[in-house]
Amino acid sequence: MDAIRIRGGKPLRGQVRVSGAKNAALPILCATLLSDGASLLRNVPALRDIDTTAALLRFLGRDCTVDAPEVRVAAGSDVRPEAPYELVKQMRASVLVLGPLLARFGRARVSLPGGCAIGARPIDQHLKGLEAMGASIQLQRGYVLAECARLHGAEICFDLPTVTGTENLMMAAALAKGRTTLVNAAREPEVEELGCVLNKMGAHIEGAGTDVIHIVGRDELEPFDHAILADRIEAGTFMVAIAATGGDALVEGAPLEHLEPVVVKLRRAGIIVEREGSAVRIAAPKRARATDITTAPHPGFPTDMQAQFMVLMCTGEGESVITETIFENRFMHVPELARMGADIEVRGNTAIVKGVRGLSGASVMATDLRASASLVIAGLVASEGETEVRRVYHLDRGYEHIERKLAGLGGDVERVQAGG
Ligand code: EPU
Repeated sequence: MDAIRIRGGKPLRGQVRVSGAKNAALPILCATLLSDGASLLRNVPALRDIDTTAALLRFLGRDCTVDAPEVRVAAGSDVRPEAPYELVKQMRASVLVLGPLLARFGRARVSLPGGCAIGARPIDQHLKGLEAMGASIQLQRGYVLAECARLHGAEICFDLPTVTGTENLMMAAALAKGRTTLVNAAREPEVEELGCVLNKMGAHIEGAGTDVIHIVGRDELEPFDHAILADRIEAGTFMVAIAATGGDALVEGAPLEHLEPVVVKLRRAGIIVEREGSAVRIAAPKRARATDITTAPHPGFPTDMQAQFMVLMCTGEGESVITETIFENRFMHVPELARMGADIEVRGNTAIVKGVRGLSGASVMATDLRASASLVIAGLVASEGETEVRRVYHLDRGYEHIERKLAGLGGDVERVQAGG
């Protein structure tokens, strides 16, 4: 099994380019189910989650070719509106086929994703919304069985903002009869991007990216050609990696407009963040200042950046308080960081990080993508010894060639074979 081996202690320098956004590409790939004809997605990152989605689309009967950074999807011969457990368990975002399948084919059988490493992650809001649009839904032996004649528009108020829930209902509503209003919708840039694609397909969507979205459904939608926006979380991960190593480097193509909360906190920690043409320059003092963060739905501080920011605080000056409000189990990196010398105390959903002078390398692993990224950053920071981050398949789900990109910044990082 692969591992990432890191010899740390070197400030990152040079330039790194950001790839397309995983969490925008996944719903947009699922949106191809809403039409026949051939759709083309450009700037798609080469990731395991993209391959899993392509496999799911093929299972559903679509003709899908991945040739990163391009993916083509066309209607195949037969449709099988079913997402099996084998694929859904690999990637929870598979649930994004539920809305499109139901709206397009009048039925869907989709495995319930179940809990995952970061929390229980129910999909009740997706299901309630589809029911309000006229679907009949049953849960049977771990599967959602959904049926409808034709979905109709509805007024739906989410109990809490959910990213994939908002996306599922937007896609369903785009082919429903009449007008749907989604209240308390997720405002993430990836939701806005999906709205833009659905409009290219001929839907009438207003307000995507705000907390109230209006959708007027159409009888048919067209295929599309779309280049995926840059990945704000990948960009943020590199920004924090450069900062944590005391480096000075450019992140090319970083979507600063979607990274406001991260930029504000980096600046408060004493990091220089400035736009230089199409890149963002990150320059760091020797030690960052302790800075508190609390994760929140967009435009708050993203939960997907919490683990990485914690590493910056591990060697910062002073004590910082990190509060996770989105997922109940997103501190899995803490015991691993402690093994590398970090001083962190977890109290419920809060981690109190006391900055230490340095970290040391160790063999570590995590069972979640962003936690794994944080361990890679910790390995780059560690000035003593070698770090081996195991279970690299988590990283491969969401970071394109991370070892090559970090090596391009001067990091001593390589992919190796490890014991498990
Ligand atoms: N929730 C419910 N009921 C629902 C849906 C969600 O209670 O029906 C709860 C969740 O348990 C969680 C909160 O609502 O406590 C927010 O979850 P959300 O539904 O927004 O998360 P998601 O759509 O499953 C997406 C990203 C995640 C990211 C979260 C939060 C994709 C494919 N995934 O997940 O990305 O952490 O939003 O921003 O867009 C990652 O990329 O590493 C990742 C985990």
